[in-house]
Amino acid sequence: MVLRELLLLLFFSHLIISSQSLEFTKPHKIKGPIKTLVVLVMENRSFDHVLGWLKSTQPGIDGLTGQESNRVNTSDPNSHQVFVTDDALYVDSDPGHSFQAIREQIFGSDYTGLETGPDPVPDPAPMNGFVQQAENMSEGMTRTVMSGFKPEVLPVYTSLVTEFAVLDRWFASVPASTQPNRFYVHSATSHGASSNVRKDLINGFPQRTIFDSLDENNLKFGIYYQNIPATLFFKSLRKLKHINKFHNYALKFKMHAKMGLLPNYVVIEQRYFDVDILPANDDHPSHDMAYGQRFVKEVYETLRASPQWKECALLITYDEHGGFYDHVPTPITGVPNPDGIVGPDPFYFRFNRLGVRVPTILVSPWIEKGLVIHEPNGPTPHSQFEHSSIPATVKKLFNLKSNFLTKRDAWAGTFDSYFNLRDTPRDDCPEKLPEVEKALRPWGPREGASLSEFQVELIQLASQLNGDHVLNGYPHIGNTMTVGEANQYAEDAVSRFLEAGRTALRLGANGSTVVTMRPSLTSRTGGDYGQYPQSQ
Ligand SMILES: *[C@@H]1O[C@H](CO)[C@@H](O)[C@H](O)[C@H]1NC(C)=O
Ligand SMILES: *[C@@H]1O[C@H](CO)[C@@H](O)[C@H](O)[C@H]1NC(C)=O
Ligand SMILES: *[C@@H]1O[C@H](CO)[C@@H](O)[C@H](O)[C@H]1NC(C)=O
Ligand SMILES: *[C@@H]1O[C@H](CO)[C@@H](O)[C@H](O)[C@H]1NC(C)=O
Repeated sequence: MVLRELLLLLFFSHLIISSQSLEFTKPHKIKGPIKTLVVLVMENRSFDHVLGWLKSTQPGIDGLTGQESNRVNTSDPNSHQVFVTDDALYVDSDPGHSFQAIREQIFGSDYTGLETGPDPVPDPAPMNGFVQQAENMSEGMTRTVMSGFKPEVLPVYTSLVTEFAVLDRWFASVPASTQPNRFYVHSATSHGASSNVRKDLINGFPQRTIFDSLDENNLKFGIYYQNIPATLFFKSLRKLKHINKFHNYALKFKMHAKMGLLPNYVVIEQRYFDVDILPANDDHPSHDMAYGQRFVKEVYETLRASPQWKECALLITYDEHGGFYDHVPTPITGVPNPDGIVGPDPFYFRFNRLGVRVPTILVSPWIEKGLVIHEPNGPTPHSQFEHSSIPATVKKLFNLKSNFLTKRDAWAGTFDSYFNLRDTPRDDCPEKLPEVEKALRPWGPREGASLSEFQVELIQLASQLNGDHVLNGYPHIGNTMTVGEANQYAEDAVSRFLEAGRTALRLGANGSTVVTMRPSLTSRTGGDYGQYPQSQ
């Protein structure tokens, strides 16, 4: 008897204690219908290039009519006029997308003094220098930058736009390359980067991210990567406590979706390296967009089949326009500098105008079929949709108590209201999207090719993760690698970094610390890279 009472007492006190601690750690309530936002950022294509021709079947979309053109010489009104075409299939060479190239594309000339000098900035931006800039790059580039895809060539996007929503006023956050724009997606600033900033790439970018805000609010996030997660450019994501939020896409994404385990904020990263067994699927030229289409199809169908589908939204966007023509003027009025940081010499860019318009698609059973979303209404008269709209929307969707990350996400339009137009989720969303059978590119991956600028940056990141950055070869390690070698190097570096982090956690290391690897540790198994020491 006495024993039994004692046990009961113990049982009850245990219950009381655990319910108290549950109360304490319970994530705060998410009010709206969306509990999971999945973000997928593809590479280097403009809106008109990818979705512009959808206007022919959906006139509400601000796309192409066929009348859009650029002249070969913007200062000569009689020079040859090049019109948009609808025959894009694959793009072999990479159009211009340096800071200067983009400035010329947008304003028709590379105005010196545009940023600092007395020259007035033309508003609206004429968007007339794409051809002139391309002419200067290579033979044939002109046709490439003015080309767009026929809707039937990209059947997965055509189907998603028809079934869900397209945003036809979503801009890159910075008129510059991949990295700065990818930073805005998760932190509403590039911390002053208007291109590759080597020092910060080594140490990791220090700014606050939306991941930090989610963490503070006891909400969950996960990054599903393929070769190497570019999100590891953020210093705070390298902390030990976040190590277990990095998941191998192939092994975990479908499994988590099927088991209803997807976290609140899901970032899916592509394969950035084009290799035979697993061709790149990021849509970057010269990669085959057929793989990008199959990848998007797989992500959609996985979410559609998940028990979490009715609480899910998927946002697909592109980091930047990649040098391709777009006719919508880039916003240049009322855009706030996020954090007071001015870009480096020689441009001293003030981060006060946006980049070119990029394709953006919003998918959810809470979204009305065939919705076309234009400008946001607020929070300011000049607010626009741009990559900072993602953290801004996450804050509202999940009712985060943390502050905005910067002045930019406080300013950016949000898309949470589009989930509140219905009382119940739709039940007519397709389970399958069209098959993409044919390759769009007549050849396969070229593993022997040298690396693009972004791939070199990814290798710099990899060598930071595995400790090789202290070796002499840094930062030029990637310059001598082929795409095939780089892929292997990056994947090895990531798995070693994550493995070391998990071990450190098991050994009780402080979760706020970052694992720093020594190259001697690395070269044990990574000794294939000739010029680096095999071991000490
Ligand atoms: C473009 O046109 C201007 C004005 O006619 C002319 O001065 C200039 O030489 C032309 N540029 C080229 C590259 O042909
Ligand atoms: C083309 O490039 C040359 C040098 O690379 C530059 O001097 C010239 O201004 C460029 N022309 C145009 C029209 O951009
Ligand atoms: C996209 O363009 C940037 C230049 O703005 C380039 O550095 C990068 O290599 C491209 N992306 C990829 C994945 O190659
Ligand atoms: C872990 O490190 C952080 C930052 O260095 C420190 O503030 C914290 O007190 C440490 N926690 C423990 C349990 O040592």
